[in-house]
Parts: sequence; C-alpha cells; structure tokens
Amino acid sequence: MALDLTAEHKMLLALATKAQKNAHAPYSNFQVGAAILDENAQLHASCNVENAAYPLGQCAEAGAISAMIASGSKQIKHILIASPNDNFCPPCGGCRQKIAEFADTQTEVHLATKDGQLKTVKFTDLLPLAFGFDKE
Ligand code: THU
Repeated sequence: MALDLTAEHKMLLALATKAQKNAHAPYSNFQVGAAILDENAQLHASCNVENAAYPLGQCAEAGAISAMIASGSKQIKHILIASPNDNFCPPCGGCRQKIAEFADTQTEVHLATKDGQLKTVKFTDLLPLAFGFDKE
C-alpha cells in the first residue's frame, strides 16, 4: 500500500523518522522510531535506547509514552512505529501492554517501513483482552 496520509499522520511519520535516526542500537543495529498523537493534539517521539546490559534496553514506544506522560497527556490516539527495514515493526508484547495502559477502543497503530509502506491496525486487534484493572 502506498503512503496515503493525513497531515497528522505525516507529522507522526516525520517525527518518528527523526527520532529513529538518533536511536542507540549498537547491539542489535535495529533502529526504531515511534511517535504518538495524544488527546490534546500533542506529538511525542522517541527511539530505542539499548544498553550493554542487554535487558535494560528500552523500546522506542516506551520512550514516546514516557514523553507523553511527562507532558501531562494520558491518551494515545495514534502511535506510529517506524521500522529500519522493509518489514513492518509491530510493537513487542511488552510494549503492547504499555500502550494498553493509555489506549482506548479507537486507538490506531500505524506501522511504517523504511521504503514507505504503511499498515494501520486498531490497537484492540493487536492486544485483545488486554489486562487492566478497569477493563472487562
Ligand atoms: N524494538 C523497539 O524499539 N520497538 C519494537 O516495537 C520492537 C523492537 C527495539 C528493541 C531493541 O532495541 C531492538 O528493537 C531489537 O529488538
């Protein structure tokens, strides 16, 4: 599918791609960028930050969520994840649970490849029956 993005989605892609370039991924050589559009129409982006002590590395999505929370927002309306190659980079299981904390039934996840392919999925399709104290 060719890119067919709204202005907001283009901003998400641009911000995620910019952050991706700063990813600290010397161990995996897999640089990821993520950008969020929140309920206040604010944008937040981050990249993965690896560590020589491998389990301490943080995914791009986690950094973007932290930036959103630090700004005072609470709801992920859209999250875009920029892959470093021609395969989509769907969020890992742990990140799905992190996204679930701040997602609603309308939250959309946009997956972008390096070569400009885009796939959009509803978050609830990525993590049905997510754990949460306020969820059924
Ligand atoms: N990674 C992310 O940042 N987001 C994802 O959705 C999947 C994986 C990172 C973690 C690690 O730094 C590298 O990609 C390889 O797994």
